[in-house]
Amino acid sequence: MCGIVGYIGPREAYPIVIKGLKRLEYRGYDSAGISLINSSGMNVYKKKGKVTDLEEATLGKDISGHIGIGHTRWATHGEPSDRNAHPHTSNDGSLSMIHNGIIENYASIKQELSNKGYQFSSDTDTEVLLNFIQDIKQNNNCSLEEALRIALKRIVGAYCILLIDKNDNNTIIAARKGSPLVIGIGKGEHFLASDATPFIEYTKEVVYVNDYEIAIVRADELILKNLGNEKQTPFITKLDMELAAVEKGGYKHFMLKEIHEQPSTIFDCLRGRLLTHSGEIRMAGIDNNIDKLANANRIVMVACGTSWHAGLIAEYVFEELCRIPVEVEYASEFRYRNPVINEGDVIIAISQSGETADTLVALESAKAKGAFIFGVVNAVGSSIARISHAGAYTHAGPEIGVASTKAFTGQLAVLNMMALKIAKAKGTITEDRYINLMKELEAVPEKVKEILADTSNIKAIAEKYKDAPDALFLGRGYNFPVALEGALKLKEISYIHAEGYPAAEMKHGPIALVTDKLPVVFVATKDSYYEKIVSNVQEIKARKGMVIAVATVGDTVIPSMADDTMFVPDADELIAPLLSTIPLQLLSYYVGVAKGYNVDMPRNLAKSVTVE
Ligand code: G6P
Repeated sequence: MCGIVGYIGPREAYPIVIKGLKRLEYRGYDSAGISLINSSGMNVYKKKGKVTDLEEATLGKDISGHIGIGHTRWATHGEPSDRNAHPHTSNDGSLSMIHNGIIENYASIKQELSNKGYQFSSDTDTEVLLNFIQDIKQNNNCSLEEALRIALKRIVGAYCILLIDKNDNNTIIAARKGSPLVIGIGKGEHFLASDATPFIEYTKEVVYVNDYEIAIVRADELILKNLGNEKQTPFITKLDMELAAVEKGGYKHFMLKEIHEQPSTIFDCLRGRLLTHSGEIRMAGIDNNIDKLANANRIVMVACGTSWHAGLIAEYVFEELCRIPVEVEYASEFRYRNPVINEGDVIIAISQSGETADTLVALESAKAKGAFIFGVVNAVGSSIARISHAGAYTHAGPEIGVASTKAFTGQLAVLNMMALKIAKAKGTITEDRYINLMKELEAVPEKVKEILADTSNIKAIAEKYKDAPDALFLGRGYNFPVALEGALKLKEISYIHAEGYPAAEMKHGPIALVTDKLPVVFVATKDSYYEKIVSNVQEIKARKGMVIAVATVGDTVIPSMADDTMFVPDADELIAPLLSTIPLQLLSYYVGVAKGYNVDMPRNLAKSVTVE
């Protein structure tokens, strides 16, 4: 969702901010804009559409300046349009602001300001907040920083804002609550952004701004304060990220690159943790909290989207291996329904970005009720990672494609290791099974490589079915959540209506949809449910449905019934989702490409959903 970039220092701000906005395109957006200050004043340019449309709109215009703030907007208040795009300008023309988040009590403040004669040229909550700041500044005759502090105490909602004053060409004021903000520290220059990808080539030293902090950023100075005007010590973190990680590296799309990275990202996730030779799994976040985890009365997985599917798979694995009751909750539901949280409950938060607003708030309320929070997060230093009591990173590297792929398999790898460790500590797993599952996990990167070695069959299947208006995805046991994930991927990337169902449950409704026009994707690898799923395939074939199967290499029964088959290597059923999910990622990728869609940035979707 909305991306934010700012620069202050000796270089020209425009190219840095524009390039930074392009790096944040993956977050999802519908318009873009930039404000720059130079000796002749402040210039604001904004445009509905892509960052390239913004660039076109600035051709021949004054784009000079050593201080600039830029924004990609994902519409919440007001349709995507030039006038609703950020930055917004205050009524007196002195202030320019960009904002990621939602101001919930904007309507009453807008009324207050309208009564005083303020005019609004957009439908956004951002413009209301900006004029509120201007009003406070004028009435109190105070500094911009002070006015911002007063305003922030009055507003309800989430924000990351960057604010500049045309009369001060050496300050960007930033603030955050609930929406991410990271500041890159250069030599005599500073970079500000929603994540570090816009400035990774300039500096690896960053400060993650915390909720309720205000940053006063000058070329050679960074001051952090809380809303009580007390100075905070900036905590500098060194990033372990290379520029190549945020570029396509020869692939046509980030999604394809990220699918193909999985042998190495899963390997990186296991490396140094899964020590098969000594039978040890080393994960500090778990080791240090093993009593809490092993003695948990209940585990609640809290997540959204693809991460929620990882939680569902983990539910099966944890209950099987650890014998701890597990619930899997959509963060958005969990946070609002006053869930019962007792002492001894463990919340496992699963999130690629670590910034999903619903997950974050759900955790905050569970934490306040005394739950122990364990984060399974990909983005290092993100908000969820920081508010968790303990955690384990998935180490998949930056994921740019909006549809999650490598982060998902990273989550599964972490959750499997976690379940194994807890089961070992509890004594609910035999030594043989424990070692065997470690070996199975260790073998995953090579097996994924095998699937990816030749994807031409999957591409051909995608081209054959690309015009289907609907699709059904079915699976049982560990492969049921894989079916859900397969359906979600197809929806996201190809806009084909797709539903995932437990294969047995289809007789209670979805079977009514089956005709000779409906592709039904079965995740039917060799596991303890195999015989049952063979019967389900027959039930679909008896009704002339078209069956696409994900089957185990060497299986002849499923392929003989299916119209088309995508093979994966054999694996223990607990580990199988790490493999059976890969052909489904590729299937949706190739369908999306065959239909000519922008698979990296599907319409209406955002990579990081930072509003509720
Ligand atoms: C968005 C993304 C999905 C992601 C979900 C949860 O919908 O498009 O790919 O699975 O958010 O995000 P998180 O970062 O918390 O895993």
